[in-house]
Amino acid sequence: MLVAVLSVKGSPGVTTFSVALAARWPAPARPVLVEADPSGGDLATRFSLESTPGLLSLAAAARRSADPAMVWQHAQGLPGGLAVVAAPPDADRARGALSALTPDPAAGAGILRAAANQANTVMIVDCGRADAGSPALPIVRAADAMVLLTGAHADDLAHLPRRLPAIGRWSAHPVLLLVGEGYSPAEVARELGVPPLGRVPDDPRGAAVLCGRPSTVRWGRSGPAHSPLGQLAHKVATVLVAHQAPPPELPRPAAIPNRPVPVLRAVPGVPGDPVSVNGVRSAPLPAGHPTFTGTNPRPGAAS
Ligand SMILES: Nc1ncnc2c1ncn2[C@@H]1O[C@H](COP(=O)(O)OP(=O)(O)OP(=O)(O)O)[C@@H](O)[C@H]1O
Ligand SMILES: [Mg+2]
Repeated sequence: MLVAVLSVKGSPGVTTFSVALAARWPAPARPVLVEADPSGGDLATRFSLESTPGLLSLAAAARRSADPAMVWQHAQGLPGGLAVVAAPPDADRARGALSALTPDPAAGAGILRAAANQANTVMIVDCGRADAGSPALPIVRAADAMVLLTGAHADDLAHLPRRLPAIGRWSAHPVLLLVGEGYSPAEVARELGVPPLGRVPDDPRGAAVLCGRPSTVRWGRSGPAHSPLGQLAHKVATVLVAHQAPPPELPRPAAIPNRPVPVLRAVPGVPGDPVSVNGVRSAPLPAGHPTFTGTNPRPGAAS
């Protein structure tokens, strides 16, 4: 599975949330985080990684081989063991590496897509601040889901109505997340016509761990598994996994020939539950159960 994380304005915490999403992705999938920000990477500096391997060496290797296993060979480990392919801090070099990884934008995300297709693999890609000319856009377009982060104040949101129609065409499964204080998800849904999946909490301590800063909070037992930011990331990952899973197979009528159709009788004193056409009773969702915005009309679909 391939998940692109991006913003369209400001720096709402795309890199931090990408690390959280990869670190908190539910088992058994093996996560790999790819930093594909055309304005240059931050992870190598934040976590004192070696300058190679990373996005540059992967781009060079991808010219000679299409082996999807190479993505893992060009990753380094963060504290806690998360595999990351870090971008060079220099924007020109990062853009060059991205252009080499997706030489033909019409052909999709090349080796990244192939690696993400492997069994039990999830690739989280930090695409930075995306616009129509971004060399990371082929990755966004090839992704199974696009997670768009935005601040929730009026100035963060003001430009979105104009941009959402184009952004909505980048992905069949867009997910909108608000970051920090500001307008509520309900207010944003009403104004934009796109219900946010949730709100990334303002969590300086959790963010500090995910940015590799020395902190009283450590990556291990007090890290992303317990921080509010990490917990929100886990919820988002769980919704994305559920959306990606194939629907359960129902028995085909041809496989049960001549079997008498069961008659559902009302039990005296017990109110009838709704029963769908295939006879399955629909259980009520627990309060607070998250919904997936990707099943809603795509942004701009109405325009
Ligand atoms: N949920 C959060 N709560 C508090 N602080 C946060 C949160 N997310 C990120 N931060 C902080 O905000 C700063 C920017 O975060 P980050 O680098 O993830 O943003 P970005 O959108 O990737 O920025 P850029 O455009 O530079 O790539 C960092 O100092 C980080 O610690
Ligand atoms: Mg970033």
